[in-house]
Amino acid sequence: MAFKTIIEPFRIKVVEPIRRTTREERDQALREAGFNLFLLRAEDVLIDLLTDSGTGAMSSEQWAGMMRGDESYAGARSFYRFEETVREITGFKHIVPTHQGRAAERILCSVMVNQGDIVPNNTHFDTTRANVENVGATALDIPIPEAGQPATIHPFKGNIDLAALEHVLATNAGGVPLVILTVTNNSGGGQPVSMANLKAASHLCRSHGVPLFLDSCRFAENSWFIKLREPGFADKTPFEIAREMFGYADGATMSAKKDGMANIGGFLALNDDAFAQKCKNLLILTEGFPTYGGLAGYDLEALSIGFKEALDEDYLRYRIRSVAYLGERLTEAGIPLVQPPGGHAIYVDAKAMLPHIPQHQYPAWALSLALYLEGGVRSVEIGSVMFGRKPDGSEQPAAMELVRLAFPRRVYTQSHVDYLAEVLIHVHQIRDRICGVHIKEAPEVLRHFSASFEPVGGDLLAP
Ligand code: F0G
Repeated sequence: MAFKTIIEPFRIKVVEPIRRTTREERDQALREAGFNLFLLRAEDVLIDLLTDSGTGAMSSEQWAGMMRGDESYAGARSFYRFEETVREITGFKHIVPTHQGRAAERILCSVMVNQGDIVPNNTHFDTTRANVENVGATALDIPIPEAGQPATIHPFKGNIDLAALEHVLATNAGGVPLVILTVTNNSGGGQPVSMANLKAASHLCRSHGVPLFLDSCRFAENSWFIKLREPGFADKTPFEIAREMFGYADGATMSAKKDGMANIGGFLALNDDAFAQKCKNLLILTEGFPTYGGLAGYDLEALSIGFKEALDEDYLRYRIRSVAYLGERLTEAGIPLVQPPGGHAIYVDAKAMLPHIPQHQYPAWALSLALYLEGGVRSVEIGSVMFGRKPDGSEQPAAMELVRLAFPRRVYTQSHVDYLAEVLIHVHQIRDRICGVHIKEAPEVLRHFSASFEPVGGDLLAP
C-alpha cells in the first residue's frame, strides 16, 4: 500500500519560533523598508521564502560533524574530507573551496573571461550575469523557447537551446571562453536540464574546444528530476546521476548554500591545471588559503555531510513532492504558475495574474509585496526589477515577471505549505486591487537588493 500523505522524512529536534504580526504592523514595516522585501527585518516575516540559499536546517549528523572541524590554517583534516566528498560526486581534479557561489563565479570570470567575450548559459543567475558583465563580457541567455512560456509543460524546461549554442560557438571562434549550464535553471523557474541536453552541449563545446562549466547549486534536485522524467534513469541513484552530469563538464561553480545543505559555503572545481593554479592564486588574495577558502573547518565538515544528504532519495522525494503539491493546489485555484513546478520553488506568473499592471510598474514586485502585506509571506521578484536594467543604463523589460517562493531545505512542514496555499489563493482573489510600483532610488548594479519603491497610487491595494 502506497500511502499518499507527504511526510517530512525527519523528526524535529530543535525549534525556532516564528512571529505573527498584524496587517497594520506589516504595512508599517513595508513603508519603513521602502517597499523592498530585502530590507525587512526577518523577524517581521512569518514564512520566509525569499530564498532557499543558506536558509536550510542542518541535520544532527552535520552538527556533530561540526564538532570535528579542524581549524588549522593550512592542510586541515576537514578540507581533505571536503575535497574527497566533492571529488567523489563531481570527479573533478581541483577542488577550490569558496565562501559561497558568487566568490567561485568571480574567480572563474577573472581567470577565464576577457573583455568583449561572450558567455552563453541556459539562463544566468543574477550574480553570475553580474560577474560576467563585471569583466566586460556579454552574458548570453539561450534557453529553449519553452522556457519563456510559463504555462507550457515540458519535462526539461531548463535545457539550453542547442542550435543557438552551436551558432554562437561557430560564429564567435575564440570569443567564447566557456559555456555555463545552470542546473537547475533558477532564473528560468527552477527547471531541470536533461542528461541528453547536457551531453549534447558537452559534445558541441568539445568540438569547438570550449570548456563547459556547470553552475551546480541544485545538482541533487536536477538529478532527481532526471531520475523521475528521463527514460533510462529510473533505476539509477541520484548519486550516480549527479556523477554522470558532472562527467560531461570540465568544471563547476557551486553555491553549497543550496544542495550543500549548509548555511554557508561553495566551491570552484575544474580539471585544467593551469587555470586551477591561477584560481588558487586569486583565492589566496581575496578568500583565503586553498585549504579553507574563506570557510571555517567546521563549515567544511558540515558540507562534506550535507552534499551526501542532499542526494538521499527519501529527502529528494519529499522535497520535490512537497513543492509539486503546492503547485497543484495553486493551479486548481486558477493561479498562473511556471509549469511544471520547479525543484526548489514555485514561480507565480505575475504578468498573467496582474494584466492590469504594465511591466514598467513591476507587476511581480507588486505581487510579492501583496503576499507579505496579506499573509506575512516573503518571496522574491524575478522580473524587471532584477533584470530590467541593462549594463549601459537603459531599461528593457524582462522576458517574464515572476514571483518566486523558494523553499528552505528541511525547514517548513506540510502545514506551512497549506497556509501558503491559503494566502496565495486569497491574494489571487483580490488581485484586481493590487497596484503597480515605481522606483524611487536605485543603485546601478544588482538594484533589487537595495532600491526603494512607492506604490503608484500611494497604497499597494486599491480600496
Ligand atoms: N547560481 C545560481 C543558479 C544561484 O541560484 C545562486 C544563488 C548563485 C549562483 C550564487 O550563489 O548566493 O552562494 O553567492 N542564488 C540564491 C537564490 C541567492 O536566492 O536563488 P551565492
